[in-house]
Amino acid sequence: MFMPFYLIDFITRSNYKKYWEDTMKFGFFDDLNKEYVITTPKTPLPWINYLGTNDFFSLVSNTAGGYSFYKDAKLLRITRFRYNNVPMDTNGKYFYIKDGDTVWNPGWQPTKTDLDSYECRHGIGYTKWNSSKNGVKAEVLAFVPTDDTCEINRIKLTNTSSEAKDIKLFSYVEWCLWNADDDMKNFQRNFSTGEVEIVGSTIFHKTEYRERRNHYAIYSVNAPIDGFDTSRDAFLGAYHDNHDPEAVFNGACTGSEAHGWSPVAAHQINIKLNPGESKSYVFVLGYCENPEDQKWESKGVVNKAPANAMLAKYKTDEDVDKAFAKLNAYWDNLLSIYTVESNNDKVNRMVNIWNQYQCMVTFNMSRSASYFESGIGRGMGFRDSNQDLLGFVHLIPERARERIIDIASTQFENGSAYHQYQPLTKRGNSDIGSGFNDDPLWLIAGTSAYVRETGDISILKEMVPYDNDMSVATTLMEHLKRSFDFTVNNKGPHNLPLIGRADWNDCLNLNCFSEHPGESFQCFGPSEGPVAESVFIAGMFVKYGEEYAQLAELLGDTAEAERARKEIKIMYDAVLKDGWDGEWFVRAYDAYSNKIGSKECEEGKIFIESNGFCSLAGIGVKEGLAEKALDSVKKYLDCKYGVMILQPAYTVYHLELGEISSYPPGYKENAGIFCHNNPWVSIAETVIGRGDRAFEIYKKTCPAYTEEISEIHKTEPYVYCQMVAGNDAYIPGEGKNSWLTGTAAWTFCNISQYILGVYPTHKGLSVDPCVPHGFGDFKITRKFRGATYHIEVSNPSDVEKGVKELIVDGNKVDGCVIPFVDGKKEYNVKVVMG
Ligand code: BGC
Ligand code: NOJ
Repeated sequence: MFMPFYLIDFITRSNYKKYWEDTMKFGFFDDLNKEYVITTPKTPLPWINYLGTNDFFSLVSNTAGGYSFYKDAKLLRITRFRYNNVPMDTNGKYFYIKDGDTVWNPGWQPTKTDLDSYECRHGIGYTKWNSSKNGVKAEVLAFVPTDDTCEINRIKLTNTSSEAKDIKLFSYVEWCLWNADDDMKNFQRNFSTGEVEIVGSTIFHKTEYRERRNHYAIYSVNAPIDGFDTSRDAFLGAYHDNHDPEAVFNGACTGSEAHGWSPVAAHQINIKLNPGESKSYVFVLGYCENPEDQKWESKGVVNKAPANAMLAKYKTDEDVDKAFAKLNAYWDNLLSIYTVESNNDKVNRMVNIWNQYQCMVTFNMSRSASYFESGIGRGMGFRDSNQDLLGFVHLIPERARERIIDIASTQFENGSAYHQYQPLTKRGNSDIGSGFNDDPLWLIAGTSAYVRETGDISILKEMVPYDNDMSVATTLMEHLKRSFDFTVNNKGPHNLPLIGRADWNDCLNLNCFSEHPGESFQCFGPSEGPVAESVFIAGMFVKYGEEYAQLAELLGDTAEAERARKEIKIMYDAVLKDGWDGEWFVRAYDAYSNKIGSKECEEGKIFIESNGFCSLAGIGVKEGLAEKALDSVKKYLDCKYGVMILQPAYTVYHLELGEISSYPPGYKENAGIFCHNNPWVSIAETVIGRGDRAFEIYKKTCPAYTEEISEIHKTEPYVYCQMVAGNDAYIPGEGKNSWLTGTAAWTFCNISQYILGVYPTHKGLSVDPCVPHGFGDFKITRKFRGATYHIEVSNPSDVEKGVKELIVDGNKVDGCVIPFVDGKKEYNVKVVMG
């Protein structure tokens, strides 16, 4: 079914399109096991998974590519990845099996030897391969235990033939010299720093340990080895690469000890397997630290105590089974917090498994490490991390709390914020600085979500520094006040918020005016422009201003709540006066006070962001304008694959607009489909009660639905991607930038809180679904503030929205909020729509 990419060169574009349309999927969902099963290694792109829950993480592709790091993908990179390579997915954690003259890999790469069978199962925090060749079956399980800084790879080999087999197993990883950025550039130094130790079956990577590091990495196996290599050149051989390592093809490692150049870790195990016999091996790739004063065992010899302690825990199959069971239990528990049982398998699958899983991954990674984010660029985004919280906070509220404090600590005293910070140092990045004027309001969004989820108002009283300076610390609530007032104090000629460097749309750079290649659109030009304004931020202000007012009320500060609501009213009126274009909301005003996203414009007449966000914030709902705006969105921005960000696309570069007009039409912020803001429109539709349309939008970008067009969509069918090519693109529907996107959190909020309608309020859970016709009855189990809610929703009249009756434990309750009763453990809730 699958045609190798190189053949595409031989066919014309129309045939190419036809070919893709004829092909099918590359796997299937196994919902019972919470896995996506990939049935061919030749997926359109590497389809990856994430291993790790706390500090040690690995990216792993379906062909065993990827890399590992501890805490920070840039500064503490453990294994080396080769970027922008051909094939794209080069370097990983490889096992080579040499069986006679045949050498193969369970993950197919890097030898690409044809396999007799191949299956890769990406699960929740683990990946499994099950492959076979010439009567040898290999089952690999890869995961990161919940409470250790290591990755386990267990490989089980079975002889399924009728002859005895003498095979050789080789492992191979290439070390990164810790700082992944420097590792790719600073060869004059780095080719001379590499150091290793080899003790028994353990290879220690101790580059730079002699000087300013107190950490090292290990790669070990729980069996005696028959050979090893630690020098890449020795293992691969001159002019060879990962696909034909000389040591493997020669059938023997060379016992090399790396000094400088490129240190690697390769083990060799010679295995005799009788017919039907299986043997399994546990490989551990670990990160270890020593206290500064206990670095050495003897002069120049690493203190191995932490490594030995770690390895002692993973000596046997049973140890691995136990750690794996613990990981599964950890996830089963997390995924039991919000579950739905509806007639729609795709909704169930996304809500119960994959969407929440992606929320966890985006929370952990922000926008740092994926196959599209290099892990050496961006750290944690202020805006991004706050939005990630929206989809994560119900899973582990304690970690959300800590994150909120970390983020708020990078805020400036005037309420603005560093746009990004490094996870390891938790300090703001001064090379990017501040001036993204939507940032401050997202802190209110994240904090409000946390307090609504937990009822923990103590966080608001927590003392939090500004720019990490504790001497000027104030309460978190004061931080939120400064966030709110930042918008109040920074308005432009139409009394709308000044945009600064950019708002949510990083590419709407209205104060940039960059003329030279290489200048950063985000950082070039002044951060403060006194004229350019954002209607989108105005929508945010109305939405999160109200959430701020509610927090003030919770603290008993009704005067502040009242003040906030006065400001919100002023903003609301400003939007209706100068932010309304007749049929939709204007997007912005540029530095000359010209409209952007207006019928007056030649290109970029209508944008998604202001229409989605102003409408979901309730602006123009009672005036009938929100409905009009959403109708316009459908009329002008809708396409088969989602709602495009703007139309018509910009066809020339506009100095006064910046990066948005730098992309060819149909891509990224220039008329691509940004999956992140599709849910804003869907949520806005639920606000005005149109369940059919809300769900239609939900389906268009939903992975469980786009799985059917995997060949066009290209990215993983189990997670959202950031961007799908819009109608103007060469191949509309092509996805890019999977995994690390605010889409995860927003789509989860959309489906769980607005469409299925279970929304945490300060007073308790509210249940107010907005579903498409024919969706039928459904059940939700929700754990909330220490209690379990069993919610049954019936819809006898098949309406889109409306709660006719709410019955809590047999008692009728007015409205749709289930009053929260402290200490109560179970709620049985019946909701009748109508
Ligand atoms: C991308 C944006 C992204 C920004 C980050 C731009 O090139 O198009 O999506 O947010 O870079 O700096
Ligand atoms: C990706 C960035 O991470 C996010 O912060 C931004 O809002 C979107 N791109 C849109 O530009």
